[in-house]
Amino acid sequence: MNHTVLSPATARRGQPLRGRVRVPGDKSISHRALILGALAVGETRISGLLEGEDVINTAKAMRALGATVTRNRDGTWSIGGVGVGGFAAPAGPLDFGNSGTGCRLVMGAAGGCPITTTFDGDASLRKRPMRRVLDPLERIGARPVAMAEGGRLPLTLAGARDPLPIVYEPPVASAQLKSAVLLAGLAAPGETTVIENEATRDHTERMLAHFGADVRTEPHGTHGRRITLTGQPELNPADVMVPADPSSAAFPLVAALITPGSDVILEGVMTNPLRTGLMTTLGEMGAAIDTLAVRHEGGEEVADLRVRASGLTGVDVPAERAPTMIDEYPVLAVAAANASGITRMRGLKELRVKESDRLAATADMLRNNGAEVEIDGDDLIVAGKGRIAGGGQVVTHMDHRIAMAALVMGLASEQPVGIDDAAFITTSFPGFVGLMQSLGANIA
Ligand code: S3P
Repeated sequence: MNHTVLSPATARRGQPLRGRVRVPGDKSISHRALILGALAVGETRISGLLEGEDVINTAKAMRALGATVTRNRDGTWSIGGVGVGGFAAPAGPLDFGNSGTGCRLVMGAAGGCPITTTFDGDASLRKRPMRRVLDPLERIGARPVAMAEGGRLPLTLAGARDPLPIVYEPPVASAQLKSAVLLAGLAAPGETTVIENEATRDHTERMLAHFGADVRTEPHGTHGRRITLTGQPELNPADVMVPADPSSAAFPLVAALITPGSDVILEGVMTNPLRTGLMTTLGEMGAAIDTLAVRHEGGEEVADLRVRASGLTGVDVPAERAPTMIDEYPVLAVAAANASGITRMRGLKELRVKESDRLAATADMLRNNGAEVEIDGDDLIVAGKGRIAGGGQVVTHMDHRIAMAALVMGLASEQPVGIDDAAFITTSFPGFVGLMQSLGANIA
């Protein structure tokens, strides 16, 4: 994002939220549909693609690597793929903007091809760790030829000439890391295996199967999975329907829960069990969320969610739930501050390396608005008072989810809540302010 002027915003308490809305397409699935479409032979059609900046940057990267990427008049997208291993060396650096997912997934996909690619991003992405992806990619045969200190962007990667299939056990629970390995493994002969001790979102595996790859998933230990991909498949182009993003739905959902008198329906939200930790947690807190019209769209379960304002109680959120709600902690913390009693969110180490240090940013956001909050090791503890004073200014640190969580908080606070910059919201949720206003929210 060319970003020199800040766009501040303020949210104020107002009327109950009412209405029926559909949030934009799932970010994880949108990135994957573009990348697998670019690796298939023939034309893939995607409907409901998230047209946020993160995904648009992945679309541009696919074009730079040789795929054709077209937005059709009806709003669908067509991708003409080059086949597994068929990426061409891009003419210049690939700029992923704010997106760790786009960057790490494409590093995997390009790392399995015999091309040299430079990856770059904005100031936030340049701070994020890439070493975690380079470690397995080096075993596959790729080699970083230049990078900033600490394995950071800008980074130039020479992809593998003869990629090797590996068995890899990621040291952190990360769907991005798992996906990078699987996407690189596509070009290797034989079986690439990823062993996860904590299962993370499985959209890459599901979509690989949808495009015709042979991918098997078996349970591993208590919470884990073992995923095995047979390399060098011919990927067939496929139609992809992108469901509404549960991580985006989380914002109007929590807003409706904490704004007295609200009654909102969120349409077509993906309910993949590896993404529903927030729903489970809010259910335990006493939230009135009804799951209506459960159906399948594009290989994923979706439902309409009816959300009514609810009195919430603090709960203990176990660490093993974190992968299923990793992006939802800032807005859960807002719900927790509006609840009665203590909420302890355990095992949030990974939040420190998101678009911002999200653990610190979430705590600061609440503290600056009069909530009682503490970080204890990797745990976030919020002492809910049933209300938030508000009146504070929130620093968003180029982080879309901190920006949206803070605005949701302002809708139920006694005093307005301001944020320094709303611009990054478009990375994942274009139209957020308008959608919230359509429900009656007072955001300016
Ligand atoms: C994502 C995985 C998560 C998540 C991100 C999207 C994905 O990151 O935070 O927003 O699409 O694979 P990690 O895998 O690094 O936890």
